[in-house]
Amino acid sequence: MTSIGIHDLELATAHHVLDLTRLAEYNGTDPAKYHLGLGQDQMSFPAPDEDIITMGASAALPILERNGAEGIRTLLFATESGVDQSKAAGVSVHRLLGLPRHVRVTEFKQACYGGTAALQAAIGIVSRFPGERVLVISSDVARYALDSPGEPTQGAGAVALLVSADPALVEIEPATGLYTDDVDDFWRPNDSSTAVVDGALSVSAYLDALTGSWDDLQAHGGPGIAEIDRLLYHQPFTKMAKKGQQRLARHTGADLSAALTAAEQANAGDARDTGLFTGSIYNRRLGNSYTASVFAALAALLDHDDDLAGRRIGMFSYGSGSVSEFLTGTVRPGYARRDRAERVAAALNARAPLEVAEYRELHGRVFPSTQDLETPRVTSAPFRFSGLLGRARQYERR
Ligand code: HMG
Repeated sequence: MTSIGIHDLELATAHHVLDLTRLAEYNGTDPAKYHLGLGQDQMSFPAPDEDIITMGASAALPILERNGAEGIRTLLFATESGVDQSKAAGVSVHRLLGLPRHVRVTEFKQACYGGTAALQAAIGIVSRFPGERVLVISSDVARYALDSPGEPTQGAGAVALLVSADPALVEIEPATGLYTDDVDDFWRPNDSSTAVVDGALSVSAYLDALTGSWDDLQAHGGPGIAEIDRLLYHQPFTKMAKKGQQRLARHTGADLSAALTAAEQANAGDARDTGLFTGSIYNRRLGNSYTASVFAALAALLDHDDDLAGRRIGMFSYGSGSVSEFLTGTVRPGYARRDRAERVAAALNARAPLEVAEYRELHGRVFPSTQDLETPRVTSAPFRFSGLLGRARQYERR
């Protein structure tokens, strides 16, 4: 059987960053609640001329520069912060990237799970047409109401994947675990720019979906816990991955390290290190990037773990509402790309810090689609959202 999976991967984020210590000082919270209680240090925040399309195109551009566009006949764009009710965000990305006309483009939605659904669809297409490659882009801006419990778990980011036969990074294995449960834990009504969430319910729904999808993986011939070397989780905040790891350890009876920091890892004793800390390195600084989050965890692992060749990774993808999937993949020899680790670190370090007052003003700024508009030139990314013309969103390469 043809081996199919992730051939290349790239991460992009937004122009601004808010340090959560600043947010804690502003609202009188102990900063330790954010840093330790939620496991978050920062959150990316878009400039007025950025959105899911500019971030998604920025993530995909280096992939095309490295691999060319030959054989790409499908672009799948996953998001839960879509900017139009009809047009797929990927169509704008298709133009910005200069892709040829003979490409199918569509958008996937099911909360944070959409990127994994797009990855599986891409694998299906490549299994039918092994000479084709599929560009999968997951891009989101996570936004909750100001002064709400969800506020410190906002964030923004995009991950682009090139899916192909004989992949250079990770071969995705056929057995997979699925779990769907109609639950009102988190959603975003059509007339709201921020999500509605029942925080406590969302945490328990996530953990139930984790064991539910794990059991389904086992029922479908997937590898047992001892045969999985690294474990990655959807990370709305990195502490959620720790809760997931603890739940999976209890559920399987395995002694898995739940250390989320290097210091905790040093004290983890005999508990098996499955890369929880390493997989959280980017998400701790990005915040929630919804559909991109689990792939940001994969990027962090590939970029910071030197011993992955031939190892099996388990990945838990959760999308509120809820749909989830537990999939596995094996890392290919020669996967390491030191230059990406440097690029991601540079992008995270280069974000322009916001004062809390600036952040609150930006958070409240919503452009009504009924007025023509030119956005201020702020972003230093390759692409920008330049404004609205006749109610249509305009994008340009910088
Ligand atoms: P909260 O009110 O901040 O909760 O809301 P809390 O008061 O229980 O505090 C959180 C943690 O901080 C607790 O730790 C506290 O003990 C600890 P835990 O008991 O959970 O281990 N804490 C401290 N630690 C150290 N020093 C201190 C201190 N004080 C307290 N001084 C909540 C937290 C996550 C509910 C909120 O942020 C929220 O609603 N977030 C948005 C929803 C969310 O992220 N849910 C996660 C699961 S659902 C999901 O992943 C899907 C999603 O990504 C969307 C999608 O799929 O589309 C969200």
